[in-house]
Formats: sequence, structure tokens, C-alpha cells
Amino acid sequence: MSANEKRQAGEAAIRYVEDGAIVGVGTGSTVAFFIDALADLKDRIQGAVSSSEQSTAHLKRVGIPVLDLNATGRLSLYVDGADECDPHKRLIKGGGAALTREKIIAEASDKFVCIIDSGKQVPLLGKFPLPIEVIPMARSLIGREIVKRGGNPVWRDGVVTDNGNWVIDVHGWQITDPVGLENDLNQLPGIVTVGLFARRPADVVLVGDKVM
Ligand code: A5P
Repeated sequence: MSANEKRQAGEAAIRYVEDGAIVGVGTGSTVAFFIDALADLKDRIQGAVSSSEQSTAHLKRVGIPVLDLNATGRLSLYVDGADECDPHKRLIKGGGAALTREKIIAEASDKFVCIIDSGKQVPLLGKFPLPIEVIPMARSLIGREIVKRGGNPVWRDGVVTDNGNWVIDVHGWQITDPVGLENDLNQLPGIVTVGLFARRPADVVLVGDKVM
């Protein structure tokens, strides 16, 4: 069921791709369906900006040119999955540890189309542990700051991000004020990226092939 909805969502996102576009491409199993569908249009787009080494490899494998965000300027479209999505299109992302590049591309894009299966929809963010990418030397410092804020930090041992950093997953937070929490955590030295996409939520959410 969930895999079928992921495929439907990945294929439905194709309708947002315009001729000549440079498309921002996220990471994950849902995005993999989008990349496969995008391959059919590869002669009609200029290329893609990728959010991870994983997606870069997939894009190259299907013959889609991968471009540098510094050279492209703003993008008209970013398509990515999520780990949780609330009714305001605010997201938790980073289950695949690609949150930093994902957040950069989301910020650089005019339209963020989020593709999910229905299991990702929640009334309140936080059941999925919140990923936070940290500079390795700040791991303990950030862990203590999270505990002060009532969270339970768990180091994703053995995982190194594409940027050479580490990931802490925060359990036990019911996130009633996602923008406030994102702003608060963004102030802490050593945090590279908070996996909350609340300041810049999705613009469109596709749950399977349905617009939320
Ligand atoms: C990657 O770091 C995440 O933000 C993904 O977007 C998220 O984990 C969605 O993954 P699936 O599409 O595999 O469920």
C-alpha cells in the first residue's frame, strides 16, 4: 500500500515539471519513483540539482544531467519526500540523513512539491524522531541542550552525512510550535541543520496521487 502510494506520488509530481526546467531533486524511496518518471522527460529539461550522493548516482544512471546550485540560480521546482507532514504542510525530514542539502534546495526553490504516502500524515509533528545534523565536536553539547528542552537525543551511530557531519535523532518531542523550535535550535552553535521544515514548509503536498 505504502509503496504503491509512493510510486503514485512520485509519478504525480511530474505534472509540475515545466519544459526547460532545472528541477531540484530530494532523496529517498519516494523520490526514487520521481527520478524514474523524470527520466522519461529528460530531453525536455535542462537537468537537476541533487540533494544527496544517492540521488546524484540515480540521476546520472538514468541520464539526467546533475547541475551545481551555485551555477543555476533559483529553481522553479523542488520535489522531495518527508518523514512526517502536518496539516499546515510543515515537515520533519532527514530520515535519510540528507536534510542539509534538502533544506538548501527547498530555500532556493519557488515551489516545493512534497511527495508522501498517507502514513506520513500526522496532526502534530514529533512522533518520528527529529533529525538534527551536527558538527561532530558539538554532539554532546547539543545533546545536553536537547535534554534541557525535554527531548531525548539519540546519536545515529555510524552515520556520516554527505557533508561529513553526524546526526542526532530527538525522541519524545510533541512539536506544538514548529517555527519556534526551528528558530530556537537554529541559534545553537554546532547545529548545521534542524530537520524541521516549518519556516519554509512545502507549497504542495501530494499524498499518493491526491493533492492534500
Ligand atoms: C531524507 O533525508 C529524508 O528527508 C527523506 O525525504 C525522507 O526520509 C523520505 O523518505 P522516503 O521517501 O524513503 O519515505
